[in-house]
Amino acid sequence: IWQNVPEAPPDAILGIAAAYKACEHPQKVNICVGAYRDDNGNPYVLPTVRKAEYRLLEQNEVKEYLPIEGDRDFVYCAMKFAYGREMDIENHVAAVQSLSGTGACMLGGQFLAQFWGSDHPIYVPNPTWGNHIKIFKQCGLKVRKYRYYDRSKNALDFEGMLKDIKRAKDGSIILLHACAHNPTGCDPTMEQWKEIVSLISSKSHIAFFDSAYQGFATGNSEKDAQAFRYAVSQHVPILLAQSFAKNFGLYGERVGTLSIVCGDVVQKEHIMSELRSIIRPLYSSPPRHGSSIVKTILMDPALKEEYYQECAKMAIRIKKMRKKLEEALQVAGSIHDWSHITKQIGMFAYTGMDEAMCKQLTEEFSIFLTTNGRISMAGLNNTNLTYVANAIQTVTAG
Ligand code: LMR
Repeated sequence: IWQNVPEAPPDAILGIAAAYKACEHPQKVNICVGAYRDDNGNPYVLPTVRKAEYRLLEQNEVKEYLPIEGDRDFVYCAMKFAYGREMDIENHVAAVQSLSGTGACMLGGQFLAQFWGSDHPIYVPNPTWGNHIKIFKQCGLKVRKYRYYDRSKNALDFEGMLKDIKRAKDGSIILLHACAHNPTGCDPTMEQWKEIVSLISSKSHIAFFDSAYQGFATGNSEKDAQAFRYAVSQHVPILLAQSFAKNFGLYGERVGTLSIVCGDVVQKEHIMSELRSIIRPLYSSPPRHGSSIVKTILMDPALKEEYYQECAKMAIRIKKMRKKLEEALQVAGSIHDWSHITKQIGMFAYTGMDEAMCKQLTEEFSIFLTTNGRISMAGLNNTNLTYVANAIQTVTAG
């Protein structure tokens, strides 16, 4: 009876990760998915995460359902982590636990489609994380793009970005990457953020921040939250999708939050009730292990301090690999200017390689990356660096 079901195309990111797994080349390299690897190319569990897990085991943590909106202590800690100590969470933030950043974007998109109206388009940066477009379309929102990155200059197209946000009809939703823009690794400066926020405010737009890399971009969680904290200080209506996948290395635990900054406690309770109504038929309530880990770390000052250092270490290793890649490309004989690799921040380098070059890297060298030229810097290490640099020099030389 299912003969009319067509085969869907593989996912642009996770489909390539699956192809990497199936590949038998001894020197295969995975620089596709944004997941941290240590210097031996192995997945990394943060020591504080392990410590928290031992504690949970000792405490005989139960496996009961969480409330629909998730673990309240976790959500409270997550909000303090995001918005800072000063924020009046109790009165001004409606927040629920989500299935990582993807789930948070989905909940936010559904909320906006229902309560802001599907005739208000959502503007996403061009380019953006491919899943954003799928998520918001599935929520019934009209998805449009604003200029973000100038490929000819390998830099932010700030003028184009402002023009497009200005041209968008009043009351549009503007999706912004809070830090470490995926895929470009290129963020506005704080001065530029101020201009963006002021423009959004003057157009009565809603700012929807996706924060997937807090602490991972600069190694400093406070600094990486500056953009949306500034937007809050300017009373711009904001939604925030928060993920703990990268900064806590909790990829498979699916832990995050969606929060909506609101006027008062009555609005907050109304929004909470509607978010519960969205969540219940979708997945009832979120999983508890990941959020218990984050809560255990954030509620213990000593563990939290250790965590900050571990997160900063990951950011520093990636930063070092950027320098090493730029140098290795020079040593490999490349005459191109690769300086953008060290200017970019976060998990990814947006190399400027085109689709044909990326496909050649995969077909001839078993180096797996997304076809937009994005490299997950975390997949590079001292063992595979020269191999990758030589291959990039080969495919970009002509
Ligand atoms: C990525 O961009 O590689 C990550 O955010 C993983 C994903 O889910 O796409």
